[in-house]
Amino acid sequence: MNGRGEGRAGNTSGDQGAVRPTILLISGPNLGLLGERQPEIYGAATLAQHVERAEQAATRLGFGLKHLQSEHEADLVEAVHGGRGAVAAIVVNAGALSHSSWSLHDALAAFDGVVVELHLSNPDAREPWRRRSVVAPVADGTIAGLGGLGYELAVEAAARLVAGRSPSVPGA
Ligand code: DQA
Repeated sequence: MNGRGEGRAGNTSGDQGAVRPTILLISGPNLGLLGERQPEIYGAATLAQHVERAEQAATRLGFGLKHLQSEHEADLVEAVHGGRGAVAAIVVNAGALSHSSWSLHDALAAFDGVVVELHLSNPDAREPWRRRSVVAPVADGTIAGLGGLGYELAVEAAARLVAGRSPSVPGA
């Protein structure tokens, strides 16, 4: 149990004097190749375009958004550590590390805000090894198989879960 039910808004991003809670979007290995990488599976949009879509959704809901992409498991783990007490929610597409990284699992278990797992494709409809996610057990929920729309929906889900737990936060 990670205390997820007691998640709090954490620190915030400033915006013209207003105080906005922050969502941290984490992208794992190979996602920087989106747009070129297996477009028949992952689509034609680049990671920058997905991040832009996520930012627009966050802004619309009164949240700030930070993004980190890395090929390295340790960077993802450190990003989750950095989010502790600092961001309200984490949206994580860990790429193939979703299926193997117990370090990331443990880091997310120690984060007490909202966690939404995200995939562009539907791993359950692909190779058997993609059917196990080690992120799912420490996530509030998973959005998968909806392509770029998932970035918008994952941010909205995160924002609404945060708002539901912290009535002072906009966007419930
Ligand atoms: C992915 C699915 C993973 O299985 C894969 O390793 C990725 C991308 C997705 O967004 O569909 O790199 O997370």
